[in-house]
Amino acid sequence: MTMEKMWAGRFAKALDSKADDFNSSIRFDCKMYKQDIKGSIAHAQMLAARGIISVEDKDVIVDGLCGILEDLDSGALEFDMSCEDIHMFVESELTKRVGDAGKRLHTARSRNDQVAVDVRMYLRDEANKIKELLKTLVADITDQAEKNKAVIVPGYTHLQRAQPITFGHHLMAYSMMLLRDIGRIDDALARMNYSPLGSCALAGTTYDTDRRMEAQDLGFDGITLNSIDGVSDRDFCIEFMSAFATVMMHLSRFSEEIILWSSWEFKFVELDDSFTTGSSIMPQKKNSDMAELVRGKTGRVYGNLMAILTLMKGLPLAYNKDMQEDKEALFDSIETVKMCLDIFAPMIRTMRVKAENMYKAAQEGFINATDLADYLVRKGMPFRSAYKIVGQIVAECIEKKCVLDNLPMEAYLARSELFEDDLYDEISLETCVSKRISEGGTSVSSVEAQISYVRGELEK
Ligand code: ARG
Repeated sequence: MTMEKMWAGRFAKALDSKADDFNSSIRFDCKMYKQDIKGSIAHAQMLAARGIISVEDKDVIVDGLCGILEDLDSGALEFDMSCEDIHMFVESELTKRVGDAGKRLHTARSRNDQVAVDVRMYLRDEANKIKELLKTLVADITDQAEKNKAVIVPGYTHLQRAQPITFGHHLMAYSMMLLRDIGRIDDALARMNYSPLGSCALAGTTYDTDRRMEAQDLGFDGITLNSIDGVSDRDFCIEFMSAFATVMMHLSRFSEEIILWSSWEFKFVELDDSFTTGSSIMPQKKNSDMAELVRGKTGRVYGNLMAILTLMKGLPLAYNKDMQEDKEALFDSIETVKMCLDIFAPMIRTMRVKAENMYKAAQEGFINATDLADYLVRKGMPFRSAYKIVGQIVAECIEKKCVLDNLPMEAYLARSELFEDDLYDEISLETCVSKRISEGGTSVSSVEAQISYVRGELEK
C-alpha cells in the first residue's frame, strides 16, 4: 500500500506502514490544495522567467497544474491518501500527467518553504472570510441596537442592578468589541503578508531565483528577509489563533448574557424558535442551545491556541516535523469561529426584546440612587455627604418596602432640606438615561453617535 517515496533513494527498506500513516498529513493538509497549486504555478513561472527551466516545460507544468486544480474542484480527481502530504500529492500527480517536466518543478524549492507559503495563503483567504462574517454580525448587532436605542434596562456591575442604561447602549458595547476583533485580524494580515517562498529548506538557494516576482504573483506585500525565519516561524498562526480566541471570548460573554436574559428569572429577550431547541422530557422547555454551544466551543479555540504555543516553544531552528501539528489546531479554530459567527448573526437578528420586562426590572433595585446623590450635589452638597444620605434613604426604603420614586416628600425632607418636589422628575428612569450625554454614555443621542461611528467603520 505504501507507494515509493520521493526520498526513497537513500533508503534500503520501505517505511513501515504504521509509521507511514503516522507521518502523513494529507488527510488534513489537503484543505490547502488550491493554495499549494497556485504557489506551484507562481514558482514554475518564476523558474522560467529566470531561465532555470525552459518556457516549454513551464507551459506544460502550468497546464498540468491547472488541470489538477480543475479536477480537484470538480471532484473528478480524488486525493491519494497514500501520499505523505498535499505537496507530494500535487507533484506526483503532475508528474503522472506530464512526465519529466513535472520532475523539474521542485527545483529551488523545498516543502519547508512550500508549506510556509501555503499556510499563509490559506490563512489569508480564511481570515478574510472571517472578517466578512464579523462585519455581518456587527451590522446585525448594530441594527438591533438602533431598534432598541431608547429601551431602558438595568445596567449591572457584579451582576447587581447598578444604573439604568439603554439596551441599545449595552448592545453597542459588543459592536465595539467585535469591531476591534476585525482590527486585530487586519493587523495580523498586514504582518503576515510576506512570502517565505524561496527560503527553500532553510538556507536559500544557489539558483538565481526571483523571490519578489513569486511574492507579487501570489499577492504578498513583499518577502521574508531571513530564510531560516521564513521556514521556521509560525507566530503568524499564533497571532490569528489568538485573535480568533478573542472573538470567541466576546461571543461567549454575549452568549452568557443571552442565556441569562432568556431565563424565566430575567425574561428580557426571547430567541426565535428557529434558533432554540426543546427538551426530550420537559415539554415546557425552550433552550438557548446555540448560545450555549458557542460558549462551549470557546474552550476548544482557547485549547488550539495553547496547543500551538506549546508546540512551538521548544523547537530548535529551523523546520521540525513537530510543525506539521500546527494545521489541525489552526483549521479547527478557523472552522469553529466561522460556524459560530454564522449562527450568531441570524440568532441576534431574530431575537425579540421584551422592553416591558426590562423596564420593570429597572424600576426595582434602586438603580437611580446615584442620580439622587447627584441631585443633592447640584443643590450644593458635597458628593460624599450626598452619597451617605442617599444610602440611608435606600435603607429606609428597603425597610418600608418602597422605592425612591414613591417615598413621600416628608421622608426626604427629614434627611435634607435641599430636597424639593422636582426630585421625582430628576430621578425618573427616563431622566437618568437622557441626562447621561457624556461622550460614550448611555443617552439615546450618544448611542446614535456610536451607531453611526460603527456603520462608518464597517463601510471602510
Ligand atoms: N507536511 C509537512 C508539514 O506540514 C510539510 C513539510 C515537510 N517538510 C519536511 N522536511 N519533512 O509540516
